[in-house]
Amino acid sequence: TEGRRVFISKPINHFPLDETATRTILMGGGIGITPMIAMAHRLDAIGADFVLHYSVKSRALAGYLDHLAQPPWSDRVTVHVSDEGTRADPARILSGYRDGWHVYTCGPDRFMKAVLDAAEKHGFPDQARHLEYFSVPDLPEYQNHPFTLRLARSDRDIPVAADESATDALARNGIAVDVKCSDGLCGVCKCGLVSGAIEHRDFVLSNAQRATSLILCQSRAARPGGIVEIDL
Ligand code: FES
Repeated sequence: TEGRRVFISKPINHFPLDETATRTILMGGGIGITPMIAMAHRLDAIGADFVLHYSVKSRALAGYLDHLAQPPWSDRVTVHVSDEGTRADPARILSGYRDGWHVYTCGPDRFMKAVLDAAEKHGFPDQARHLEYFSVPDLPEYQNHPFTLRLARSDRDIPVAADESATDALARNGIAVDVKCSDGLCGVCKCGLVSGAIEHRDFVLSNAQRATSLILCQSRAARPGGIVEIDL
């Protein structure tokens, strides 16, 4: 609509690099290579130790191959091509874990699971295993129940019906919360958690972040009729 005002925000990074890592292993599958390229440039700029593994089905379908051959860090890149029989072996790539190593992965659901399972098996702690989804993975059979949002700052209770999200309930009550994907992927609707047991249904928060935050467009009270106190 002509004249419509469009609201924008500063960029939000939900896949940040830990620049204190002693070694960083980047593992991208398919188009999941894109954040890895930005991370590789940054790691090179700060003189960090890193490797980048790029998994693709075939060279013909792979993006960025030319791009990855050009930077000064191209010798740190290994391309794994399924139809050439050079599929990545996460168990081998992630072996020999030492304190301070971090692994980052982005790609299809099964690919990321294989990477993270191998990382966990080799001793990478939770805070050293990082992932970013770019589409919603298969979901468990969630049951929706009504619950109550308690707004700590404004001392209000907002009922959330079984067939609506917390963001819907807030909007219905005139409380604006920024929403983008509504799928629990982008993190835009992240809110501080004051108290309450949560069924976290997002794909963006780390376990550590979930102790103090929740994603309002997807997550709900863990129990029917539960009270979730949030920092609003
Ligand atoms: S709007 Fe994207 S995670 Fe909620």
